[in-house]
Amino acid sequence: MRQHWCFFFSDEIKSAITGSCSNCHTMHNSQNGSPMNFDNSDVPNQMLTRGNCKGCHAMGSSDNIDPLTGAPQVLHNNAVDLAGGNFKYLNSLGDNRGHNVVELGNPEGALTGPPGHHNPDNIGVNVSCSGLKGCHGTRKTGVVFKGAHHKNVDGICDVADNVYNSYRFLYKVKGYENMGAYKWQNKDASNHNEYFGANTPMTFSGNCNNCHSDQGFRPYNQTISGFCSTCHGAFHLIGWMDGDPGIGDNSASPFMRHPTDVVLGTGEYADYNPGTSNQYSVTVPVARTTVYSGIDNKAYPASDAVMCLSCHGAHATQYYKMLRWDYKSLTLSTALSGCNVCHTSKN
Ligand code: HEC
Ligand code: HEC
Ligand code: HEC
Ligand code: HEC
Ligand code: HEC
Ligand code: HEC
Repeated sequence: MRQHWCFFFSDEIKSAITGSCSNCHTMHNSQNGSPMNFDNSDVPNQMLTRGNCKGCHAMGSSDNIDPLTGAPQVLHNNAVDLAGGNFKYLNSLGDNRGHNVVELGNPEGALTGPPGHHNPDNIGVNVSCSGLKGCHGTRKTGVVFKGAHHKNVDGICDVADNVYNSYRFLYKVKGYENMGAYKWQNKDASNHNEYFGANTPMTFSGNCNNCHSDQGFRPYNQTISGFCSTCHGAFHLIGWMDGDPGIGDNSASPFMRHPTDVVLGTGEYADYNPGTSNQYSVTVPVARTTVYSGIDNKAYPASDAVMCLSCHGAHATQYYKMLRWDYKSLTLSTALSGCNVCHTSKN
């Protein structure tokens, strides 16, 4: 049965995933009586894979891309981190470096839930790779990925109506995935992912289905900041529930929390990344308000937007609060070094 399926769909399989089936799958999780799982676990996995998310993506080796499967690593000891950061910093530097994903052990100690979230709250600090309390895949109970890996759309994700064609399997999020030589990295101005943003943040209209749906939680504006806001609503939305104003009552200054999904604009922002003629900065990246189909090494302050990832990583970084630079530094110029990429007249 499996073999037949394999034969029949082999073209489709090859389009996204390459290599022999046995690189990633095991029929019984047993060879000469020993487990076939990468982490030697004798517990078999759904869809007969040789690991769960952690087993394939967080091997803790010195490779940032696993040489056998090609799986990008989110926890590794290579000197080069991938675009999401590296969960290893939670072990080496502490809980406040990022998302303490339950699968990786090392539970969050200081927080009790996602800051900026609404109550009732059933996620607590139990954020996971995927599923009801997770980020990737269908964010509800049950099977979160079925076929997404094989159907994976690489590069432009402008439809984003399914997990497989959403940006990095973040259901409903649009964007462009770096396909170049540094495929999983934000390396420099010419080699990075292109994030999708908007020129106005999500407004909480009182419609709970903005985020809740039968298909699982998702951001209705399909931006990366909207995605973060599904769990950190007050930090992105205009108007929030329970009398919390979110970032304020409208999408213009004065704000009450730092805005995201607003266009940089004119004035001091026109000089984004001073002295470089607006070169795109991978330390302080901006989001595009249209979905790009390739990489652009420039930023366009008149149309590009601030996003959560302008200041934060996604998984974990080496800095306090998962920031992209050392905002806690006692040296003011270091602390503000990221802010100054946009606020060019506030030194
Ligand atoms: C599925 C829900 C969920 C989503 C989506 C989510 N977060 Fe979180 N976030 C949490 C939870 C839970 C915590 C608190 C527990 C922890 O830090 O591990 C948290 C903590 C944080 C922290 C504080 C870290 C610390 O330890 O002090 C930052 C910063 C953060 N999130 C930023 C983001 C950004 C940026 C995004 C979008 C890329 C995002 N979050 C998306 C659930 C989420
Ligand atoms: C590089 C790793 C990798 C290789 C090689 C691979 N798979 Fe998979 N496959 C996965 C992962 C991961 C999943 C589970 C997650 C998902 O479905 O997105 C999966 C799921 C599946 C599923 C269940 C979901 C679906 O698409 O219906 C089938 C069937 C499958 N693989 C068959 C095969 C066959 C047959 C081969 C060889 C031609 C193969 N796979 C090669 C990684 C791989
Ligand atoms: C059998 C190994 C295996 C398992 C299990 C597996 N993955 Fe993957 N995953 C891969 C490989 C290989 C790729 C790279 C595919 C490619 O190059 O397009 C990948 C790619 C991804 C990507 C990037 C997709 C993109 O945008 O290109 C995400 C996100 C991801 N996996 C998340 C997960 C999560 C979450 C789980 C657990 C539910 C999981 N994976 C389970 C092997 C695996
Ligand atoms: C900005 C996105 C967003 C909006 C808007 C939103 N929610 Fe949620 N809500 C979530 C997310 C994500 C979760 C799951 C994670 C968690 O429990 O923290 C959740 C969880 C819940 C839960 C816990 C049970 C469950 O389904 O997981 C309840 C109850 C809830 N929301 C009620 C509401 C109500 C009522 C509204 C409208 C007044 C609303 N929410 C609007 C994002 C949202
Ligand atoms: C990616 C560019 C970018 C970065 C990085 C950035 N900002 Fe902003 N900031 C903006 C934009 C754009 C606005 C909104 C301006 C407007 O619409 O009036 C803003 C608004 C503000 C406001 C509110 C101003 C008002 O009128 O309500 C403050 C305060 C602020 N930023 C401080 C900071 C600090 C501190 C940092 C570093 C931790 C920082 N910003 C980093 C782009 C950025
Ligand atoms: C302009 C830079 C900037 C942007 C944009 C930004 N943040 Fe932050 N964030 C910070 C800084 C700096 C801190 C450290 C604490 C502080 O000063 O508020 C922080 C702290 C946090 C925390 C931890 C709060 C706590 O109680 O420990 C969370 C969660 C968070 N941000 C989520 C987000 C999300 C989600 C977005 C997008 C909707 C976002 N941030 C956008 C700069 C930013």
